[in-house]
Amino acid sequence: MKYSTKTGSLASLSTPCLICGYKAGLRVASELGHRDLLRTATQDFSDKVGTNLLVQLPRQSPVKRILVAGGADAHVSASEYRKIVRSTANRLASAEVSSAVWALVATQVQAQDVYWRSFVGLYELSLALYRFDRHKSAPETKQTTRIQVHADSRSRANVQKAVRENQALKSGLDLARDLGNQPPNICDPSYLLREARKLRAPNVSVSALDERRMTELGMGAFMAVSTGSETPGKMIIVNYRGGKAKAAPIVLIGKGITFDTGGISLKPPAAMDEMKFDMCGAASVLGATKAAIEAKLPLNLVTIVAAAENMPSGRATRPGDIVTTHSGKTVEILNTDAEGRLVLCDALSYAERYRPKAVVDVATLTGACIIALGSHASAVFSNDDALGLALIDAGDWTGDRGWRMPLWDDYQSSLKSPFADVANVGGREAGSIVAACFLSRFASAYPWAHLDVAGSAFRGGAKKGATGRPVALLFRYLLESL
Ligand code: BES
Ligand code: MN
Ligand code: ZN
Repeated sequence: MKYSTKTGSLASLSTPCLICGYKAGLRVASELGHRDLLRTATQDFSDKVGTNLLVQLPRQSPVKRILVAGGADAHVSASEYRKIVRSTANRLASAEVSSAVWALVATQVQAQDVYWRSFVGLYELSLALYRFDRHKSAPETKQTTRIQVHADSRSRANVQKAVRENQALKSGLDLARDLGNQPPNICDPSYLLREARKLRAPNVSVSALDERRMTELGMGAFMAVSTGSETPGKMIIVNYRGGKAKAAPIVLIGKGITFDTGGISLKPPAAMDEMKFDMCGAASVLGATKAAIEAKLPLNLVTIVAAAENMPSGRATRPGDIVTTHSGKTVEILNTDAEGRLVLCDALSYAERYRPKAVVDVATLTGACIIALGSHASAVFSNDDALGLALIDAGDWTGDRGWRMPLWDDYQSSLKSPFADVANVGGREAGSIVAACFLSRFASAYPWAHLDVAGSAFRGGAKKGATGRPVALLFRYLLESL
């Protein structure tokens, strides 16, 4: 997909599809001599937010189709604007046109400027136009490969900035979704490493700790998860130096469980295939990293992916096993299905060596998070209010929303173990908070936030697939941190 900017009069365009509000559509059709055609075609059109109508113009017309966006002539709220864009983007996706001119930047949105309208509009288009069909043998639907954003000359610079940023964001989003959607027999820890290596550039280095090295480093929690699998685990490290040599980096950490069977605490069979998405946290931090690199953000970024497969086997960890973590703390593993926090705690204490300005981990960590927030928000936990707020703001701004959750000490007591420093599970109550509390014990050396994306990172059911969340939130957070 190529995004670009286009100025000049709409009626002088030549395009397979023009996406605009009703008034602009009528004006263009009139100037092309097709006023009556558009009037007739839109007779029953309600022009409400969330509706749209695709109108074919005669074959010789330089504008072949007009996709009328309902509600786009009104002064709308931010969420209505997203709805308008999403509705037309989905219609565009099914129309199978090769390219389109997108003129919805003209819609007036309460308290939002043209830069926001272009950024958020393109983000919604990127989401709607994504396809994952590499494992289908039959030829698939034709894809839109080019979107020109129509801007007046006054707003051109702002639109262009959003176009550039969204070109990078789209690459990151697509990477995150592709990695998530790949089946678990292909996407294993070594595959994630190979994909991470593709990010290499003059100021990017990619390395990995293998199991031998992690054992030497005392990463007993990570190894307790990885040991049951035939597929070797990897701690993948991407180091991007886009900022000043001495500037402290932001560290992103992703849970990369390429398949979560639960281990000896085996999961029930229903929808277990969806546990291929248990590496979506890793996919999202790699996606955000790709976007940051492509956008040449002037910052230093270290991305750590804790990649392992959680399998039952003769070598698997048993409930009751006690292991020593990289931090030196001991953990009694009462449930091998609470494996995400085990691979993450070693990554969190390993991150200390980078003297980070902030650390953000992303994980499909708990089913309880889905019970608490559903799929609309990622859970945001932080030991630092400025960092927590910055992430919530980035989510609100993009629409890739997060919701703040507590990390109160009161929740820590459920993790008491009679034998080790901490147990890896508490009781049934407040599962996502208790999981975050477990992680917090390994993240006290720096401002830290944890995003539980169990509900937001993928969809089940008929629309099964990775959503790319929270790549946009992270990318926006990085942009705002500059
Ligand atoms: N990967 C799961 C969490 C999950 C479940 C993500 C459903 C997305 C959809 C995680 O490893 C897990 O199994 N968590 C357990 C924790 C429990 C044993 C304390 C859970 O949520 O049941
Ligand atoms: Mn699990
Ligand atoms: Zn898991």
